[in-house]
Amino acid sequence: MWLFGYGSLMWRPGFDYVESRPAVALGWARRFWQGSTDHRGLPEAPGRVVTLKAEEGAVCPGMAFRIAAAHQPRVLARLDHREKGGYRRTQVTMVGPAGRRFAGITYWAHHDNPNYLGPAPLHEMAQQILSAVGPSGANADYLWQLERSLFGLGVRDSHVAVLCAATRAARDG
Ligand code: BEZ
Repeated sequence: MWLFGYGSLMWRPGFDYVESRPAVALGWARRFWQGSTDHRGLPEAPGRVVTLKAEEGAVCPGMAFRIAAAHQPRVLARLDHREKGGYRRTQVTMVGPAGRRFAGITYWAHHDNPNYLGPAPLHEMAQQILSAVGPSGANADYLWQLERSLFGLGVRDSHVAVLCAATRAARDG
């Protein structure tokens, strides 16, 4: 089984895998539209973390992890628990470095979940990310780690880049 990571799984998979490779998920765009009340924020002050928006022609760069059949039930149970704040599993089609398509699963926060925030003006999203802190750490550190992971893949994601610039501008006054 291949598992596609486009957020914290890229820098903190936290499970055993056989191999990993850069991949893009077809038909999806990464967006900071999911509220986090259990990792990068609190119920009274949610942070913003990534989810996927279905969009024809879009691609979402990330990492694909191959999980051994024997480990699948344990890995999925652990991730279902870790991502219980609104995410569900969905199927994705990916393209790897060799240009070959392959299938996998990923975690997706649909807009019907109670923590979904959706889009907001850029400066509001930046302020929210700057101020939110949760049990897994500062929301801004999540954003910077994502930026570093994408940089490591040689990828520029315009949504993430614009949000990083706005968050730095808000931080630096
Ligand atoms: C990830 O792919 O890194 C991920 C994103 C959102 C929820 C769970 C995992």
